[in-house]
Amino acid sequence: MAAAQIRPLVAGNWKMNGLSASLAEFGAMKASAAEFAGKADLMICPPAILIALFAATAKGSGLIVGGQDCHAKVSGAHTGDISAEMLADAGAVAVIVGHSERRTDHNETDAAVKAKALAAWRAGLTAIVCVGEQLSQREAGATLKVVGGQLDGSLPDADKSSDPVSANLVVAYEPVWAIGTGLTPTPADVAQVHAFIRGKLTERYGDAGAGVRILYGGSVKPSNAGELLTIPDVNGALIGGASLKAADFLGIAAVYR
Ligand code: PGA
Repeated sequence: MAAAQIRPLVAGNWKMNGLSASLAEFGAMKASAAEFAGKADLMICPPAILIALFAATAKGSGLIVGGQDCHAKVSGAHTGDISAEMLADAGAVAVIVGHSERRTDHNETDAAVKAKALAAWRAGLTAIVCVGEQLSQREAGATLKVVGGQLDGSLPDADKSSDPVSANLVVAYEPVWAIGTGLTPTPADVAQVHAFIRGKLTERYGDAGAGVRILYGGSVKPSNAGELLTIPDVNGALIGGASLKAADFLGIAAVYR
């Protein structure tokens, strides 16, 4: 798939933010979703307890809903956990796995992230696999080594003929030091890492890897979206803080309108 054919994804990660009253903000996003039809996919990943409400509200609007994490197993004695099947049942079409906050707060390893990505596929969800270096790793010149290792360990194998990775896999490059800090890498640094990830994806999945969307994440806001989202091999954004307000989220997506 040529780069020009990749439809970008603008995904909002609400993290542990949002109550049922947030439906109003989500509704404002939904109201504008049709403007992006065919140009970009718009997704919000709210806290799990809001997925069913948001998904029912957004039905038919073009705005889609995802989860922020899932357990690797289908069901069982795992108090507090939620399976990919449950997310799908609630109306989610995708799930973020391996976000740096999960890797840090819950000690998630690459192997655990890979198991979750496979669980997403098992449930028919798109897996949004997050990778990214810490500041100390960037300063040590180890960014590509770290990101390469995370990709090797976190991406599931796909049967090239039957698993459409261009549809069911998204990679999000999120430098940990850029998340929630207002700091962003230079466009040249983003371009270097995204080109590297593209190379790893085609090495791994063949031609299908050329169609996998690679999102940039970390302090994306309306004021820097034009610069960040037009970098080659940047096929959209994973947005934290700025995805909580419809005006900011839509202001970022406006790059693709
Ligand atoms: P941020 O978060 O946009 O608030 O930096 C990004 C993320 O963690 O996905």
